[in-house]
Amino acid sequence: MTNSSPQSSAARTQDELKTLVGQAALQYVVPGEIVGVGTGSTVNKFIDALASMKDQIKGAVSSSVASTERLQALGIPVFDSNDVAELSVYIDGADEIDGQGFMIKGGGAALTREKIVAAQSRKFVCIADESKLVKMLGNYPLPVEVIPMAAQRVIRQFAAMGGQAQVRLNGGKPLVTDNGQIILDVTGLKIADPLAFESQVSQWPGVVTVGVFAFQKAQVCLLGTAAGVKTLTF
Ligand code: 5RP
Repeated sequence: MTNSSPQSSAARTQDELKTLVGQAALQYVVPGEIVGVGTGSTVNKFIDALASMKDQIKGAVSSSVASTERLQALGIPVFDSNDVAELSVYIDGADEIDGQGFMIKGGGAALTREKIVAAQSRKFVCIADESKLVKMLGNYPLPVEVIPMAAQRVIRQFAAMGGQAQVRLNGGKPLVTDNGQIILDVTGLKIADPLAFESQVSQWPGVVTVGVFAFQKAQVCLLGTAAGVKTLTF
């Protein structure tokens, strides 16, 4: 299902589209409650907008050190996910989202905590510019968080299914996640059945989290387009 809000159709930059959807997400924040907050440049726009209603919410559960620091700098209290049973809404970006709300996430290396906070939330609201909407997941390199000891074995398992996996680097060294693990980025995959794919790869020893969000899919996507914010519901 789709609807769109009337906006000026003047060409907007990708950054402006991110600001637009970040602000639009405020309508899903429930006053008096704790909101789940994702990670990334689009979510940063949401966090900045959330500051305008910080006195109306209890605070946030955050999916990364980076988002925690940004929330706290704006005076928004951050709760440990273990101290909160259930969240009414989780707001996060995506690297790809398809027509059913299935996503690839983890471009910012925060996929494990993102999946945890999404799992404790009743509704996932994805905020993204229209470049993220795809017919089938798999063009964006799939992030997979792994325990370093398992990296080469997992790389071979992806090769057996036709994918090429590489360790993500930062300054010439393996990038280390907030959880002390590493990220593989996998290209060459077409993910026709996201639920089956996520089930399969999640079972490989040493895989912490695969960046396919099928079990924790979005229920709503606020998509920034040239014509304004389109609301997709799944
Ligand atoms: C971080 C993520 C992000 O949500 C995803 O990478 C999109 O980021 P951006 O809003 O910067 O395009 O999954 O791990």
